[in-house]
Amino acid sequence: MAEQVLPNHFKTPAKRIGWKSPANIALIKYWGKQPVQQPMNPSLSFVLNNSTVSMFVDFEDNSSNKPMLEVFSVNGQPNEPFRQRFSSYLQSIVPIMPFLRNISLRIESHSSFPHSAGIASSAAAFSALALCLCSMEEAILVKKMMPEDFLRKASNLSRLGSGSACRSLYPGMVMWGESSKIPDSSNDYALPLDNQRVHPSYLTLKDAILIASDQQKAVSSSQGHELMNNHPYRESRKAQAAANLGKLMIALAGGNHKTFFEVVEEEALTLHGLMMSSSPGYVLMKPNTLRILDEIRTFRNQSGLHLGFTMDAGPNVHLLYFESDRQTVKSFIESRIQPLCQEGRWIDDAMGTGPSILTQKP
Ligand code: DP6
Repeated sequence: MAEQVLPNHFKTPAKRIGWKSPANIALIKYWGKQPVQQPMNPSLSFVLNNSTVSMFVDFEDNSSNKPMLEVFSVNGQPNEPFRQRFSSYLQSIVPIMPFLRNISLRIESHSSFPHSAGIASSAAAFSALALCLCSMEEAILVKKMMPEDFLRKASNLSRLGSGSACRSLYPGMVMWGESSKIPDSSNDYALPLDNQRVHPSYLTLKDAILIASDQQKAVSSSQGHELMNNHPYRESRKAQAAANLGKLMIALAGGNHKTFFEVVEEEALTLHGLMMSSSPGYVLMKPNTLRILDEIRTFRNQSGLHLGFTMDAGPNVHLLYFESDRQTVKSFIESRIQPLCQEGRWIDDAMGTGPSILTQKP
């Protein structure tokens, strides 16, 4: 294949681009894939405010044939597993971003949350990287994209690195995956739900991330997705996810908090049920996970507040509640939940506003 010719202005010392991008928490879970890196069912999530990855990419033309990914660090330290994952990702997207053939990259990634918190750092990291790549493309080709095209391209690119990353590009409620209920929905990229579809109360959602255990997970998300290929409940899960998305969309538009939390909890428990009924089966919850779920349901019954839980494919619990109940929920966490968390740890997070470009070194 002919070498892509870079504009002359690029043949200069390294340029630096930086983006900060958030993790997201799914309400309707993406669990199971189809080729190529597309979801088995549509999912819906919102981005977090405090759980972010800031990424800086230095790039220069590669006349001396260095590796494409010359340097890679996470929080100032080399990180071999992530370097390998990023390296093979970058190789895989060369056909979409041919300019990568001619450049070498130095990537510094800084995560605001401890890896052990079990928050999907890959969603924040791959969305940040995809944004940097789109900005690099604009700089190298000296061609600006329309903002919505830029984000859609970044969403598509980040999906190829980690599926859930494609939902980290937008504020508010974000869905990914084809659904007859949402025009323009796609398996390739995520879409933000517009304001008419989301009652304003949901924009004040808070997420207390309760660290039941910070032990390394027994099985990665990618392995978990694979277990859905031959799962006995695969077809019924697809039907359930589609139905739950429909129910959640109605609850979201109308502000029906009871249905909202019913659906969200059903999705979380289903995810764990699917893992338990996989072959081999995995129990990702720890004893304190169950105690925390029990405390949350008891507190909800006693207080009458609108709140509920969700979980990712791990032992930690996300307690979702509304900003207006902040004080009461904080007291509840401190008295009933903190004793059940590893070293009393929990992360006070909330719905965020999406990625932002970084102009300064951290
Ligand atoms: C349980 O996006 O981490 O968090 O595409 O293999 O990188 P890969 O998987 P990943 O899976 C996330 C699964 C989940 C649910 C969700 O975020 O929808």
